[in-house]
Amino acid sequence: MIPRHYLFDTFRGERVHLGVCGSVAAYKALELTRALVHLEMPVEVTLTTAATQFVTPMAFRAVGAAAVHTAPFHLEDPFQHLQPGELARAVAVVPATANILAKMAHGLADDLLSTQLLACPGPVLVAPAMNPRMWLASATQANVQVLRQRGVRFVGPDSGAVACGDMGTGRLAPVEEIFVEILRLITPQDLAGMRILVTLGPTREYFDPARFWSNPSTGTMGASLAVAAALRGAEVTAVCGPVDIALPRSVRRIDVISAQEMFTAAMDLFPSVDMALCTAAVADFRPPRQETKYKKDGQSLALTFAPNPDILAAMGKTKAPHQRLLGFAAETGDLAAAAAAKLERKNADLMAANPIGQAEAGFASPTNRMVVVDRSGRTESWPVLPKTEVAWRLLSWLASL
Ligand code: CTP
Repeated sequence: MIPRHYLFDTFRGERVHLGVCGSVAAYKALELTRALVHLEMPVEVTLTTAATQFVTPMAFRAVGAAAVHTAPFHLEDPFQHLQPGELARAVAVVPATANILAKMAHGLADDLLSTQLLACPGPVLVAPAMNPRMWLASATQANVQVLRQRGVRFVGPDSGAVACGDMGTGRLAPVEEIFVEILRLITPQDLAGMRILVTLGPTREYFDPARFWSNPSTGTMGASLAVAAALRGAEVTAVCGPVDIALPRSVRRIDVISAQEMFTAAMDLFPSVDMALCTAAVADFRPPRQETKYKKDGQSLALTFAPNPDILAAMGKTKAPHQRLLGFAAETGDLAAAAAAKLERKNADLMAANPIGQAEAGFASPTNRMVVVDRSGRTESWPVLPKTEVAWRLLSWLASL
């Protein structure tokens, strides 16, 4: 399953051509097709003859492929076979065998997929899958080097157990990684060269070894921003509170537990970044921590909480003129006024406020309703949008400041 925060509407209508080679991993190309089709991206598929021994053209049609090609020539239109690769924004070969890598490296065009690959003008991505000895063979490695030099993008292969029982490098990369890399290939790299820090998720403030004080943040807004920034070419580091949310490998992840740990990790990184996106629901207070477990004795438990450091405010105090800061505010009442006041108080550049207690916004919701304010006083009120769309818009706004 591709995580929801990897699904950006902005790719609707972008064509992808998918080549599938003969490998046990070929069935994973079906999940990839389904995910691209879910974004309303038209996908045409070419199966090699070997691939048809593992997966059928019908299966690809059934998950929504716009067309599936297996035979090289059509009597009615002998050049139709070149079209899918020519029209697509990107071509991906998933899984890619040692054989197709060799053909690509040497310019062979002896079947439909290799012919399309030789003729396609656009970017090409390959996700190899093969026996580890085949991957490490000097012939394959030399072909990989040639293809990399020509600008072919590689995802994987990964290490682990492969189908024949061998251990080593040769497993197909996870489908969600391949999916993200395909999207990245067709995304304008408007944030290339930017270093971006994201704080996300809740923090946990332990008061004994078994119990903590926290909040229900799922990290979805921050993860959407991290993925969007990575797709747009930024070098992203995410400082994550304890939350089980997927991030692509291209995002550097630093896991922390408490607000103080998050503060230390984020402030260490802050001087070296161009933007900091503070989405974490940091616990504003922490209880005193006892190293032995509290035992119930029929009495109430009274703890005095101490204030935690405010990461966004600390960044606002030390930020350099080129640095941009995004903050979030969960508010009741007048969102715009509250956002403007918080922007000022924390010296942020952009503040996004969402209402508390509404089904379509805030914690654990895949959507958000936002009022966004910048330092010039520009204020926008957005309708209910997927958090991925909110993330895309916020990054565009920040980049324009
Ligand atoms: N923030 C932070 N460190 C904290 C607390 C908050 O970085 N210790 C950041 C959040 O990531 C978010 C913004 O500050 O970007 C939220 O500000 P906050 O003052 O906590 O606002 P609310 O949580 O909305 O609550 P209140 O204004 O009631 O304090």
